[in-house]
Amino acid sequence: MKRYEALAHDIAQSIRAGVLRPGDRLASVRHTSASRGVSPSTVFQAYYLLEARGLVQARERSGYYVAPHATHAQEVPPEPEAASQPQEGSVPVDVSALVFEILDASMTREVVPFGSAFPSPLLFPLARLGQLLAASAQTLDPWSTVDDLTPGNAALRRQIALRYLAAGIPLSGDDIVVTNGALEALNLCLSVLTQPGDTVLVEAPAFYGALQALERQGLSAVEVPTHPREGMDLAALEQAIARHRPKACWLMSNFQNPLGSLMPEPRKRALVELLARHQLPLIEDDVYAELYFGDKRPPPAKAFDDQGLVLHCSSFSKSLAPGWRIGWAAPGRYARAVARAKLMSTLATAVPTQLALARYLERGGFDKHLRKLRQTLATQQAQFMQALGRHFPPGTRATRPAGGYFLWVELPPQVDALALHRQALAQGISIAPGPIFSPSRAFAHCIRLNYGHAWNARSEAALATLGRLVHAAL
Ligand SMILES: Cc1ncc(COP(=O)(O)O)c(C=O)c1O
Repeated sequence: MKRYEALAHDIAQSIRAGVLRPGDRLASVRHTSASRGVSPSTVFQAYYLLEARGLVQARERSGYYVAPHATHAQEVPPEPEAASQPQEGSVPVDVSALVFEILDASMTREVVPFGSAFPSPLLFPLARLGQLLAASAQTLDPWSTVDDLTPGNAALRRQIALRYLAAGIPLSGDDIVVTNGALEALNLCLSVLTQPGDTVLVEAPAFYGALQALERQGLSAVEVPTHPREGMDLAALEQAIARHRPKACWLMSNFQNPLGSLMPEPRKRALVELLARHQLPLIEDDVYAELYFGDKRPPPAKAFDDQGLVLHCSSFSKSLAPGWRIGWAAPGRYARAVARAKLMSTLATAVPTQLALARYLERGGFDKHLRKLRQTLATQQAQFMQALGRHFPPGTRATRPAGGYFLWVELPPQVDALALHRQALAQGISIAPGPIFSPSRAFAHCIRLNYGHAWNARSEAALATLGRLVHAAL
């Protein structure tokens, strides 16, 4: 246990034992730091962790207080424990009709967005970005339309490379290809690695966008067992490589969508070593990497890649500028092929948005924005989790991701998530049912819920309604 976790554990014990009661003020950071002989930042981390668990609340300029429901705060659903057991064998992917049926119905502001893939758009510095976009457009060098063709604007690529460097991954701007969001980066990487009819290894469950990319390119998927906390099972992965001769593996090692799983660092290293032994490229989708709740950014599998076999893809869509459609690939030894695939398809990414983001990153402020965003998401997760405990029946399990904004909820086995989706939608509530995350339509009793929106009376009422529908299905 790290120091801040030990401190948080002790305070949680005092709350559980009734020594600290709802409304009590915690000792000041300075006082706790002196009395426990730890640094103030350790105390802050402990208090943030307790806040994320719904045990304490920060009051502006006043300190931290034990939360009103803190004594019930432990009554949240337990976590799922077992790795998935997908059907063996490779399946041609055909998920799009179902995915569109579900997403089309949910994409309106009127619906409570538990099924949405996006966090609240109100969490981002849109006014500041707007100013920079206007300034970039006004001062645009006419030749930038030529200079900034794929692989993209050099200043932006440099800023992206600097963030890799800060995470201990020595890349330069030349290693980056700017794309229209992460989804284009992922699709381009897939297209340079595969031919129609090939097989790709995916997680079970997997992001439906990954499955749709496979479907569009005429590929088959093999679902590999995946653990809800620790990600893809490496022994099963090795067996699948031997059995199916895939052309690529596609996964998310950080805050996987939909599970929220975070692969421990030694497993990431072992994953990359395993893939290197088989010379199998990895498409790594890392769009949620910046949304971690712990004390530092977890490295991607890319951090352990010394052969250029990991094609790392990410974007600013979830962390800074939703709707701007700026993403990138760091495709290792495939960088030239990916850049050419982009030149042959969408040619380039819009120049003014690239320039504006480069300026935003150059001037600082991104990390400050991210700190606030992470804290907001961690708090909303705790609120959501408590509400799940209040409204959902025993037998419900929910993951407790250390980042991102999705919960994966396993309902009692007799609940049909697709039927639940239809009933919830009729009441103005969207959910993401399990089968859209699987080419074999598994996870029939699971749902993904989004906690990226402010918790309020409307969300509480919607979750209560959802809970009633689940109870009625038992
Ligand atoms: C796991 C995952 N990858 C990629 C994307 C697409 O990212 P972008 O909007 O940058 O294209 C999403 C968006 O929902 C996602 O959830």
